Amino acid sequence: MIIASNFKTNHNRATTKEFIDFINTQHFFSEVRIFPPFTALDDFDLTPNIKVGAQNFFPVQKGSFTGEIGFEQLDEFDIDTVLIGHSERRHILGETQKSICQKYDFAKAKECEIVYCVGEPQEIRKQGIEAVMSYIWEQFDSIDINYEELIVAYEPVWAIGTGLSASLDDIKEVLDSLRAKIKVPLLYGGSVKVETIKDILNIENCDGVLVGTASWDVKNFSKMIEISDNL
Ligand code: PGA
Repeated sequence: MIIASNFKTNHNRATTKEFIDFINTQHFFSEVRIFPPFTALDDFDLTPNIKVGAQNFFPVQKGSFTGEIGFEQLDEFDIDTVLIGHSERRHILGETQKSICQKYDFAKAKECEIVYCVGEPQEIRKQGIEAVMSYIWEQFDSIDINYEELIVAYEPVWAIGTGLSASLDDIKEVLDSLRAKIKVPLLYGGSVKVETIKDILNIENCDGVLVGTASWDVKNFSKMIEISDNL
């Protein structure tokens, strides 16, 4: 199982270090991914099944892109896992499928692990599963789904940060459709909590979770890893 924490715009250098140090002292079998803010990246001494990744990057090695972070800056911290296509970047920060593909191709050329996020907004969900899947497949336009370092995260937009998780049946339906074409690990994300993670991880075709809000407390995150280990 893959248990990932997306810090978004939370935690600073000191609290990120405390968080990672705490997780590092735990013994577990699950694959753990932690995505802190750029400013908290550091040379962490990590046990092999933990990786620290970047929430975003600009698809260049280096250059003149004021305010952006390229791979020269990520390479300094040996970052080899990145989030791409998160709904907050698509819908709040205005990333287009074209710019997302540029990031995807760049990270792929760098042989990075990519956690690629897809998911439908509420108005599409209301139209039923066919509309949902056609919306999601469009988010795979020009994306190489056979990339061996790919992990796909299904995260319905209306479930992110709202406390409203998708139902187990809804998650299963989407993951089953994705699994028919996509052979890489499939995660679910959207208001996953300590109380709900077990049932979600037990869904057929669910290989892990991407957690925001409920993961920012390290004790909660560690509990989620423990639940995953004990499945
Ligand atoms: P959430 O965020 O757990 O706060 O809903 C999930 C995500 O954005 O990956």
